[in-house]
Amino acid sequence: TWTMVNIVEEQVERIQQQIGPEGRAICGLSGGVDSAVAAALVQRAIGDRLTCVYVDHGLMRHGETEQIERDFVAATGADLVVVDAEKQFLEALAGVSEPEAKRKIIGREFIRVFEGAEADIVEREPGKVGFLVQGTLYPDVVESGGGAGASNIKSHHNVGGLPEDLQFELVEPLRTLFKDEVRLVGEQLGLPPEIVWRHPFPGPGLGIRIIGEVTRERLDILRAADAIARAELTAAGLDRDIWQFPVVLLADVRSVGVQGDGRTYGHPVVLRPVTSEDAMTADWARLPYDVLERISTRITNEVPEVNRVAVDITSKPPGTIEWE
Ligand code: XMP
Repeated sequence: TWTMVNIVEEQVERIQQQIGPEGRAICGLSGGVDSAVAAALVQRAIGDRLTCVYVDHGLMRHGETEQIERDFVAATGADLVVVDAEKQFLEALAGVSEPEAKRKIIGREFIRVFEGAEADIVEREPGKVGFLVQGTLYPDVVESGGGAGASNIKSHHNVGGLPEDLQFELVEPLRTLFKDEVRLVGEQLGLPPEIVWRHPFPGPGLGIRIIGEVTRERLDILRAADAIARAELTAAGLDRDIWQFPVVLLADVRSVGVQGDGRTYGHPVVLRPVTSEDAMTADWARLPYDVLERISTRITNEVPEVNRVAVDITSKPPGTIEWE
């Protein structure tokens, strides 16, 4: 629309003024809409003087890394460095079950890997990279009192929120926008709908949706179940009615089932679809029974390790959206 074209043009001009004709920038991509739109805007403004960095921590859902690697790059032409750090993250998480400990480890490793990639890029372009792009939105700015490190309040909470790095000047092209405007800008910039309309997803990823230790095998089980739940929600046309739809693997719990001629001893998954305005409060979503039935049947048929599907009917409060 006319307004969105204006926002894009205005922001592109501002970014060009801030970064100048020679400046170079780095942007971390999380897989989410904010960082993708911020990066796409800066790419439009300064072209290949922007380098995007995506840290693959191995805790993403099925297809999400490819969405960034392939679809984001195809849509924007951005220069992207992908760091495959799955092994490093899984080694650091080995033996850890406690939710806060998991978060701390994932946050710590993320900063390590990102800073390593940052240093490599700066070295390649000595003395030139002076800018770091962040997808800070207007509500983030307001929440933290509008200071320079606007995303700091959330940084303990958000893997994408890097500590303030004095080496770089921040570029925050979404600072005046609300989420729905960011999505419209993303559409205007030609980003794929899977990225533009993606539900919120926590920085620590599936690491906090496996109750118990995080292992590669458990991640694969959860990814398979989660992909089915998301596909059926999409097929039912309900994506935009639902705020978030975590699928949680109770990896330390087993329950007896029966399948074919045999007894099974598998794991339960919990479906946690919620509606919400801002994630501060939430209600459990009344998904149609036939959608729930398809999800349950498909998961228990197609994911051999899972023999039971439960639905979480707790509001927030008292329950949080995530289980950890
Ligand atoms: P809860 O579970 O507290 O979640 O109701 C509220 C919103 O925040 C997301 N969430 C996180 N996001 N890092 C993040 O980046 C985290 O550690 C984290 N924990 C929860 C959650 O998905 C929901 O949208």
